[in-house]
Amino acid sequence: MTGRNIPVKLVCVAGARPNFMKLAPLFRLLRTHPQFIAKLVHTGQHYDEQMSGAFFRDLDLPEPDYYLGVGSGTHGQQTAEIIRRLEPILMEEAPEGVLVVGDVNSTLAAALTAAKLNIPVVHIEAGLRSFDRSMPEEINRVVTDAVSSLLLASEPSGVENLRREGVPAERIRLIGNLMIDSLLAHLPAARALNMPARFGFSPGQYGVLTLHRPANVDQPARLKEIFEALGEVAKRCPLIFPVHPRTRVRLAELGICFPDGLICTEPLRYPEFVGLMAEAAVVFTDSGGVQEETTVLGIPCLTLRNNTERPITIEQGTNRLAGTSKDSILTVWQLHLDNPKRGRVPELWDGKAADRAMAALEEFFFHNEVQRVCSHQ
Ligand code: UD1
Repeated sequence: MTGRNIPVKLVCVAGARPNFMKLAPLFRLLRTHPQFIAKLVHTGQHYDEQMSGAFFRDLDLPEPDYYLGVGSGTHGQQTAEIIRRLEPILMEEAPEGVLVVGDVNSTLAAALTAAKLNIPVVHIEAGLRSFDRSMPEEINRVVTDAVSSLLLASEPSGVENLRREGVPAERIRLIGNLMIDSLLAHLPAARALNMPARFGFSPGQYGVLTLHRPANVDQPARLKEIFEALGEVAKRCPLIFPVHPRTRVRLAELGICFPDGLICTEPLRYPEFVGLMAEAAVVFTDSGGVQEETTVLGIPCLTLRNNTERPITIEQGTNRLAGTSKDSILTVWQLHLDNPKRGRVPELWDGKAADRAMAALEEFFFHNEVQRVCSHQ
């Protein structure tokens, strides 16, 4: 420790639904810690009550200090708007660090803005790689990590990827999974909602489906195949499907009908979704976070993708890659029926990642030597 006694100002940036549950546990700790002044910026990438407002309340996140209101757009428009609106705030606030989470466009835009102003960037969930650059999130991950000074990883593959890319070990800390901090904190209340009964089911009698990735929902042929396969699955196991806004728009544009057995609903609130997932027989998803949450809940997960940036959910957890063709999905569904995966909870996915993130931040900002090495490499 340097003996520094003035607090460090950190601007934390979030913008889209999966950011909120990763940031909430850490932001709450930062706000109670006298050594830090934490400001919150919401970019407005997600803006609907169901995609944003309700999450802030359910996760106990305070009203943001700044709301950028960027809304939707092409990747270029959205990223550029965030940079344009965030830059004057960072110049005015002059924080000693900017903290970004996950892999959405808001993450990339905020990291670039800060790095260009020579403000150290802290990246939560650093180092994950799908090795598939056609995914917008992969570009966001690679570029965000390249301009970050302190990289906090959720699983060992993140550390390995960063080391292979030449990031010095001093900049990397394995802290575990902040999203799991939120999951475990909300699980008892989520179970108490008795979500299966709301849909007329008993626990274990239904599956859950989420689907929103552009690679799946923006290609009509692929979307049709996925729905054909899920229609077969639903004959045996009804699937509750909270429909993401982008998916709803695509389905309407393409005139695709939902197969029988798919029970569509609006996007759910966070405790509602957790409550539903926790009692499901199986989950089909193309989300990143859901692969991790099902692993901790011990619920089999069939991922509607050909790769994952979260390999620990396959190596240790309940996840299986099901691909996106009708054949591959039905083959993996049969594999699941014959041999459902049990898995185990990965190390450091224990609900205490926020404590370890705090320790890493204290070390970085209050230990001269580490910060000097980290900031100027
Ligand atoms: C974004 C993230 C993705 C993440 C997902 C979680 C990027 C590149 N993608 O994808 O990694 O898994 O969030 O949801 O950052 N829309 C609304 N209301 C909203 C927000 C969006 O109706 O509050 C609709 C709009 O039609 C918009 C579309 O959803 O055009 C897509 O939103 P966008 O933020 O561009 O990306 P997501 O698909 O949500």
